[in-house]
Amino acid sequence: MNRTAALADTRAREFDFRAADHRAIAALVYDEVGILLPDGKAQLVYGRIAPRVRACGLETFADYVTLIGRDTVERARAIDALTTNHTSFFRENHHFEDFVERIWPPLADRLAKGGRVRLWSAACSSGEEPYSWLMAMFGADRSGAQRLLKADLRMLATDVSPSVLATARAGQYSKETMRTVPASLRTAWTRGEGDDLVVDPMLRDAIAFRPLNLLGDWPIKGRFDTIFCRNVMIYFDEPTKERLLARLADRLEAGGMLYIGHSERLIGAVQHKFQSIGRTAYQKVAA
Ligand SMILES: C[S@@+](CC[C@H](N)C(=O)[O-])C[C@H]1O[C@@H](n2cnc3c(N)ncnc32)[C@H](O)[C@@H]1O
Repeated sequence: MNRTAALADTRAREFDFRAADHRAIAALVYDEVGILLPDGKAQLVYGRIAPRVRACGLETFADYVTLIGRDTVERARAIDALTTNHTSFFRENHHFEDFVERIWPPLADRLAKGGRVRLWSAACSSGEEPYSWLMAMFGADRSGAQRLLKADLRMLATDVSPSVLATARAGQYSKETMRTVPASLRTAWTRGEGDDLVVDPMLRDAIAFRPLNLLGDWPIKGRFDTIFCRNVMIYFDEPTKERLLARLADRLEAGGMLYIGHSERLIGAVQHKFQSIGRTAYQKVAA
């Protein structure tokens, strides 16, 4: 943006917003959740935070920066507003296909023999990813699903943003949002409610939706057979990605799968712990 355009932009704004305010907000967000908000994201920061400035009855971003310095509840709201939660049902479907073809059959066998299976959708946003995953696993076979869900199968789905987790837990989406769900699965696993579709409670209750900051402590016991951690590392810098990947690798069983987003890649020492299986799909090798 040239100087004149930047000036016009400032004049059109409802609240005074300085580069120093942007940098203070960016530093706080980076420290807490690792998301990078460089200078080029000033418009995004303004657009997402201005409603909070208004809701708090303040007149400038500088006042808001002071507020979130001491008010942890408002700080959490600011972070929530600054997460980008774009997702969709059956996004990057090749991961679900790979899981269902190669990984799921032996896991389903294990469950039938009384064994345990643990799955984690890390940074699940509003729930489209874990619901797609369960629908892909079960297909339209509701009685098979019922049998498997009585076995020792657990799916954890986590995100740092409380507002998207609330949507995930409600399991109610517009028909437009659900248009990428194959018709047979929509019929099997949703019912209409006005203009929306509601996910069957059998699926909804099978997923433990929990708040979790990927940069913080993980109150998680045991290891997972598969982790989906897609399209969140794109917001992090290289050292944060490397630390996160090492922690995810530790949380996977030998032979376990890690699926990451289409523009993400394995970096650092952790690369040696995985074998590339397909597009952004990695299998942990035995130690
Ligand atoms: C673009 S969405 C990706 C959703 C889904 N995995 C997918 O690929 O469609 C990124 C999600 O990461 C979450 N997120 C960002 N930073 C996080 C952090 N430090 N810990 C946990 N979740 C985080 C955001 O709240 C957002 O819902």
